[in-house]
Amino acid sequence: MYWVEMLFQTEFFSNPVLNKILKPILSQRTPRIHHFPELSDDVIAHNKKVPGTVGLKTQLELFRIFYLVKGLDKASRFAELVKDVDNCHDCGLCEGAKNRVNGEGDMDSRVVFLGEAPGRREDDSGRPFVGSAGKLLDNLLAGAGINRARIFISNVVRCRPPGNRRPKRSEVEACSHFIERLLEIIAPYVITPMGNSAIKFLFERYGLGEAVIGDVHGKPIKVEMPWGRVLVFPLYHPAAAIYNRKLLEVLEADMKTLVALL
Ligand code: URA
Repeated sequence: MYWVEMLFQTEFFSNPVLNKILKPILSQRTPRIHHFPELSDDVIAHNKKVPGTVGLKTQLELFRIFYLVKGLDKASRFAELVKDVDNCHDCGLCEGAKNRVNGEGDMDSRVVFLGEAPGRREDDSGRPFVGSAGKLLDNLLAGAGINRARIFISNVVRCRPPGNRRPKRSEVEACSHFIERLLEIIAPYVITPMGNSAIKFLFERYGLGEAVIGDVHGKPIKVEMPWGRVLVFPLYHPAAAIYNRKLLEVLEADMKTLVALL
C-alpha cells in the first residue's frame, strides 16, 4: 500500500489544484472509489502547464487504485482479525460455542452497531442478529430507511454465553481488544451500542460517565478516537422491545435521530 501513498505525495500533492480537490476526499471517513465524471477546467489547465508530472488520466487512475487498495487493506485486516479471534481461548466462552461471531456488513459503513453477545441462532449460523432480536433490528433499520447490507453489525463478545446469560465483565474485557481492532479497521463516524453490556463497555472504555440507559439512549456523545471524532449513540437493545410497545416506539424515534446524524 505504501508505494501508492508515496506516489501520491510526490505526484498528486505537488499539483496544488488537484491537491485542493482530492485532499478532502482522501480525508473522508468512508472512502469510496471516485470516477470523476467531471473535471474542472482549472485542474486540466494546471496539469497541462506542469511539465514532468504524469498525465492527468494516470493520476486519476492512481487515485482510483489508492481507494481500491485502501478497501482491500480493510478486508485483509478484517481477515487477520477473524483469524486471531478463531485462535482465541482467553475467556473460555468458546468452549461451549459452535461459532465465533465476528460481525458482518459494509466495512466502509459510517456506523457500527454493537450488540451484546451471540444467541443460539447467531451461534448456529456464525452471523450477528439473525434471531428474534435480529428480526426486530431489521424492521427498525428498514423503518428508518437504513439498508442492513450498508452498515456493520457486531457484538462486544464473540462467543455465545451458556444459556444466553449476560456476558461477565471479565469476558467482555477479554474480548475488548477485538472490538477495538474492529472499530479501528472500519473507522466509523458513529458507534451505536445497543443495550447495557455494549453501552457499559463503551462508556467505561472511553470515560463517558454514568451509563444509565434510560438517560443516555438517543443522545450522541462526542469521543476522540484514533481515526478522528466519533459520535457514540446508545440505543436500547432490540430484544428489550420485543414485548414492550413503549420501548419499541423509543427505539423507532432514536433510530430516526440516528439517521439524521449520518
Ligand atoms: N443479541 C445480541 O446482542 N447480539 C446478537 O447477535 C443477537 C442477539
